[in-house]
Amino acid sequence: MTRLFDPLTLRGTTVRNRLWVSPMCQYSARDGLPNEWHHVHLAQFASGGAGLVMTEATAVSPEGRISPADTGIWNDDQVAAWRPIAEAIRSRGALPGLQLAHAGRKGSSESPLSGERGTVPAERGGWTTVAPSAIAFDGFAEPRALDAAGVEAVVADFAAGARRAVAAGFAAVEVHAAHGYLLHQFLSPLSNTRDDEYGGSRDNRIRLLRRVVRAVREAAPETLLFVRLSATDWAEGGWQPDDAVAAAAAVKDDGADLVDVSSGGLVAHQRITTGPGYQAGFAATVRAEASVPVSAVGMIDDAVLAEGLVSRGEVDAVMAAREWLRDPHYALRAAAELGADVAWPPQYLRARQA
Ligand SMILES: Cc1cc2nc3c(=O)[nH]c(=O)nc-3n(C[C@H](O)[C@H](O)[C@H](O)COP(=O)(O)O)c2cc1C
Repeated sequence: MTRLFDPLTLRGTTVRNRLWVSPMCQYSARDGLPNEWHHVHLAQFASGGAGLVMTEATAVSPEGRISPADTGIWNDDQVAAWRPIAEAIRSRGALPGLQLAHAGRKGSSESPLSGERGTVPAERGGWTTVAPSAIAFDGFAEPRALDAAGVEAVVADFAAGARRAVAAGFAAVEVHAAHGYLLHQFLSPLSNTRDDEYGGSRDNRIRLLRRVVRAVREAAPETLLFVRLSATDWAEGGWQPDDAVAAAAAVKDDGADLVDVSSGGLVAHQRITTGPGYQAGFAATVRAEASVPVSAVGMIDDAVLAEGLVSRGEVDAVMAAREWLRDPHYALRAAAELGADVAWPPQYLRARQA
């Protein structure tokens, strides 16, 4: 008996199994438009048996991009470009999800594919970044602190992004509040020194995330809504697992269906200890203490490890990133290893062992 390949139903939508594709930036877009690279890249994981395929961090505004080569969801041309990709994922039996993102002070950065690091200058398409406070990320230009109108615009941009994701055919959206991007910058006292209602106490630092989640829920009432949180900054004085539990409980009340638990990314001096399943304990804690469905992510590269997390009831689903790049048929392979009977694409059946 395996549990990894049991369907999961949330908000009336059923995902065929619990082994999902975690968001992965490809740094391959122009003007925020996904192209044939993104199409093949994402569709192959659905052919490979994934339950849900999440797009890369997709910016809700031009200045919300990590790099100039990020995908976006701030205009209708982007909706048209995403639509066939969402359909390709769905027609292969997986659910298409789109990660809604704003990079904040980590925006306008060089694509890692370029071999450069740091902030892209204006003459090469860079922009002035925004953040809760004018505190730079190590090696990056100083951001502009968002004023009240800027905060309102962020909420509106996430809501509009969610509306567009639904129009493009996505079944799920994920609010990216992890890895040191804008919403995480608000959550952590290391990057948020505001003295208005968005800074200071933990409740105040969580306020923008909660407003975004409520606005996205209102914009997309029937769509699965995930929130990706970093469970810790791995740095003294930073965001901690008990903060993540509080944020998870709050966003659940605001309409989130699942919390996707990751960690880190806020400060360069973080000290992370990695290893197989190294973040799964955080996910299990969030699930137990905030009573919300969770996914775990982080070096869950084999079927037995993934199966154990789900079958012991520690997490509801497993996301993986790099393992899908090594083997785009990770789920078909995992099912074979665990002896689970899953549907293969009929075109591939001659390769399936009896
Ligand atoms: C190439 C690459 C791009 C990534 N881009 C994103 C992203 O857009 N959004 C995000 O939340 N995480 C991103 N991540 C982090 C992954 O989603 C995942 O959390 C992390 O790689 C750990 O999982 P893994 O050990 O299975 O790779 C990226 C990771 C990789 C390797």
